[in-house]
Amino acid sequence: MPNFKLYAFYFSPTGGTKNILDIFLSKWNCDKILTDLSDNNANLEDVIFKKDDVCVVAVPSFSGRVPQFIIPKISKLNGAGAKAVLITAFGNRAFDDTLLELFNTMTKADFICFAAMAAVTRHSVMPKYGNGRPDSDDISQIKEFSEKCRNEFVQRVNTVALPGNFPYRKYQSIPIKPKADKSCNKCGLCAKRCPVKAIDPQRLNKTDKNKCISCLQCVAKCPRQARHINKFVLKAAEIKMKKLCGDRKENAFFIAE
Ligand SMILES: Cc1cc2nc3c(=O)[nH]c(=O)nc-3n(C[C@H](O)[C@H](O)[C@H](O)COP(=O)(O)O)c2cc1C
Repeated sequence: MPNFKLYAFYFSPTGGTKNILDIFLSKWNCDKILTDLSDNNANLEDVIFKKDDVCVVAVPSFSGRVPQFIIPKISKLNGAGAKAVLITAFGNRAFDDTLLELFNTMTKADFICFAAMAAVTRHSVMPKYGNGRPDSDDISQIKEFSEKCRNEFVQRVNTVALPGNFPYRKYQSIPIKPKADKSCNKCGLCAKRCPVKAIDPQRLNKTDKNKCISCLQCVAKCPRQARHINKFVLKAAEIKMKKLCGDRKENAFFIAE
């Protein structure tokens, strides 16, 4: 293997995207530098890439798009012609324009995006969809794709062709916003971990509905399981989405010519 560094940047509010990323990275026997894109202290402009490096970016598909707070963050990277692999995790509906939007943003930041994949995970809001994914078949597919990327990234000089449309699909937020119950001990971790600062650290039971992106990181990270979404609203959403999310979707893999 040539001398290179592998950087991975991810956003994984409830862990599904990170799980997919970890499966992908398991085939790369090298040092890895991981950065959580929801960490507001991470200085992305300070990362110095060399042409031989590899950058993996993994994000969930929200509304068939990249979660929007991530765009200005990854735009700060300076790829210097390094190779990039793009990953999205989606909750068994569709990933629509997510990879294309990621591709356009990373290409502008001077990366050569030679490979991309979209993998099905459990839907973080409606967990009955995509439940049990990735399964053993998914894991084998992801590992096989990862080996291909690892073995071929040096000679891949072209960019990958991806599905999607521009202008992108309209980003639609969902009206499901978590709230704290009485067991909240006001530790403040939810406010600290919220990627878009929608929770007021002084009034933790107040979520700014306009800022909240419903990513559920606050629910997943709460040490007391004190934050929840409304069960009735969730049930209604599950019924509404049955046609679009009910049947099994497959993963998608793309690599440049
Ligand atoms: C606000 C929001 C919008 C979502 N939109 C989509 C979507 O358009 N298509 C889809 O298949 N899954 C969608 N999902 C499901 C997530 O893409 C999926 O659950 C992903 O694994 C979440 O990442 P995480 O497990 O790292 O938190 C959405 C989830 C959220 C929270």
